[in-house]
Amino acid sequence: MIDEIEIRESLPSDVASIEKLYPDAFPDEDLLPLVRELLREEPIVLSLVGITDRALVGHAIFTACSIAGRTDKVALLGPLAVAPARQRQGIGSAIVRAGFRKLENASVTQVYVLGDPAYYGRMGFEADDGVTPPYPLPKEWCGAWQSISLRDARPPLHGKLSVPRPWLQQALWAP
Ligand SMILES: CC(C)(COP(=O)(O)OP(=O)(O)OC[C@H]1O[C@@H](n2cnc3c(N)ncnc32)[C@H](O)[C@@H]1OP(=O)(O)O)[C@@H](O)C(=O)NCCC(=O)NCCS
Repeated sequence: MIDEIEIRESLPSDVASIEKLYPDAFPDEDLLPLVRELLREEPIVLSLVGITDRALVGHAIFTACSIAGRTDKVALLGPLAVAPARQRQGIGSAIVRAGFRKLENASVTQVYVLGDPAYYGRMGFEADDGVTPPYPLPKEWCGAWQSISLRDARPPLHGKLSVPRPWLQQALWAP
């Protein structure tokens, strides 16, 4: 586990390090076009970086989304990346949890993610079949669509998640 990590919103001066982090963390997937587009979407995006020993070692984006016909403020988590040499030291979960606190302060009530339940379940995410993702998922991915409530005991939300333009690419929602 890491002793000290600074987690803060990303700055324009972090972009070069963020652009290096993604190919390192995802050698088989090019997420940079999505990340670049999302970073241009301020203020609807919360972009958090993790810094240890003055090096940028992790990054996560939370995008503000909505559900048709509802006023609830909700967000989509992704992508999330930690430098390979610094994985399994608690950095990814620390960044996500810091994001929850910031989103809670911004009155966001629910966060959605498409990812491995073995990882996101540790942070409290649970499979969500009330709100559907923007594109239908293959059957074997259904358990990977998850959400976490940032407020206690709220009735489950229903509807389709409405995402901003950078996320409107079917390839991002398919194997
Ligand atoms: C997935 C990722 C963000 C996790 O960040 P991290 O800082 O390494 O994770 P944490 O240290 O907070 O948590 C580590 C724990 O989660 C588990 N874990 C990590 N990645 C996992 C995965 N893909 N699936 C299941 N469990 C995973 C580990 O088993 C570890 O637990 P352990 O040390 O008890 O074995 C990071 O490994 C990464 O960037 N991977 C490559 C890119 C990627 O797959 N991103 C996922 C975005 S959906």
